[in-house]
Amino acid sequence: MKIFIDSADLDEIAQAFDWGVCDGVTTNPSLMKKAVDRRAGKGEKLDLRDYIARILTIAKGTPVSLEVTEFSAQGMAAQGIRIYELFNPVAENVVIKIPVSPAFKDGDPTHFDGLKAVRDLSGRGIPVNCTLIFTPEQALLAAKAGAAYVSPFAGRIDDLLRSTAGIVFEKSDYYPADGMEGDGEPIEDNGIVSGIDLVEQCVDVLDIHGFDAEVIAASLRNPRQAREAALAGSQIATLPFGVIRDMLKHQKTYEGMELFTRDIVPEYVKMLQ
Ligand code: E4P
Repeated sequence: MKIFIDSADLDEIAQAFDWGVCDGVTTNPSLMKKAVDRRAGKGEKLDLRDYIARILTIAKGTPVSLEVTEFSAQGMAAQGIRIYELFNPVAENVVIKIPVSPAFKDGDPTHFDGLKAVRDLSGRGIPVNCTLIFTPEQALLAAKAGAAYVSPFAGRIDDLLRSTAGIVFEKSDYYPADGMEGDGEPIEDNGIVSGIDLVEQCVDVLDIHGFDAEVIAASLRNPRQAREAALAGSQIATLPFGVIRDMLKHQKTYEGMELFTRDIVPEYVKMLQ
């Protein structure tokens, strides 16, 4: 499974690439805001164009998703082309992120505009990451429209299931892949029992029907979800920096280091100098 870093923070991205385990980057408007605010909080004057170019340079050779902020098919496609023209020359690794449906709940129901923009950009040879996927059928439509990547949001499905069932939770809490029961009934959303179940069903649907689109398990909030995304066959998991770091942690690893360090034979070290 490829691992992308889900961040727009240059320091986090640089660190993850430095570890040699990073195969790409995903950003979204919230992550971009967080990164910009962090820099502003440190009193730094940010040239956003230069900042994004630095992200692309660090990630050279791996895809970096940059999201559109428009809502109409025409607007998203035009902005996607603009982003691509502006930034792809930097390191030739830009992927345009398009919401599968840009409609708001009570807004203009232009529900097909996401797909139209995906089709338009893909037809021009611009790779698209279709985002905000919450059902396997959305993933199917995104893949049919030509998306190179589809991003099911596992953590947000878990949030929805817990909220619907009145379960109090922290964002990083683990939610069982095979679901939970509430009042003796399985908790589910349209047949989806967990975020990982959503990822697995997206993987299966695309696989059964021979689509080339890769699944990016997104909105993952803890190491166990990353493990389960891998076991579900997701080609990619996009992970916040903290989750990548936490995947390394285990109390017995710490303990083992202490024990091995205590037992080091001095001649062994001397011999290696
Ligand atoms: C990445 O593509 C998504 O935008 C991101 O994983 C969303 O994560 P969140 O639900 O934790 O905000």
